[in-house]
Amino acid sequence: MVAMPESKMNASCDGEIVSPLKVKNGKLIRLTNIMTSDGCILSIGESQAHIPFEIKRFYYIYNFMNQGMIRGGHAHKSFEQVFFCLMGSLVFHLDDGTIQQDVEVNSPDRGVYVGPELWHDMIRIAKGSIIFVVASHAYSETDYIRDYQQFLAYIKK
Ligand code: TYD
Repeated sequence: MVAMPESKMNASCDGEIVSPLKVKNGKLIRLTNIMTSDGCILSIGESQAHIPFEIKRFYYIYNFMNQGMIRGGHAHKSFEQVFFCLMGSLVFHLDDGTIQQDVEVNSPDRGVYVGPELWHDMIRIAKGSIIFVVASHAYSETDYIRDYQQFLAYIKK
């Protein structure tokens, strides 16, 4: 049986596995859910079907000890990532240099795809949240743009 846990994101997946956001290179990801006979839910993602790249790396961000913490504050030149909030909630503030969009994530079967040249801040992270990220490349600081003015200059090039 396929279960569809209620998602309270302020943008809708419209039943699609991958749905565009208003910002350029931003997408919502809806994992496939299977509810087992004991009431557990398996949320499943595969490269290509759910994750629009081959996964080369993953990392977690956790130990949020205070309510309302923030992370992010950068864009990538070419890396792609999908962020899941396995526990808790947060708001993604996305900015493509022209359009800004806030997306709340509070369901573990929903992800936010952040493609190249998309500034992202994770704000209002709830205490105890666990953020799980899959990435298209191994870590390299050279792919980061950590200064907002440099980001605006970079995307104009
Ligand atoms: P950063 O990407 O800035 O974290 P966030 O987006 O949560 O603010 O990374 C924080 C630090 O960790 C920075 O010094 C780079 C390092 N880091 C790695 O060494 N490898 C990785 O895969 C990641 C994501 C970060």
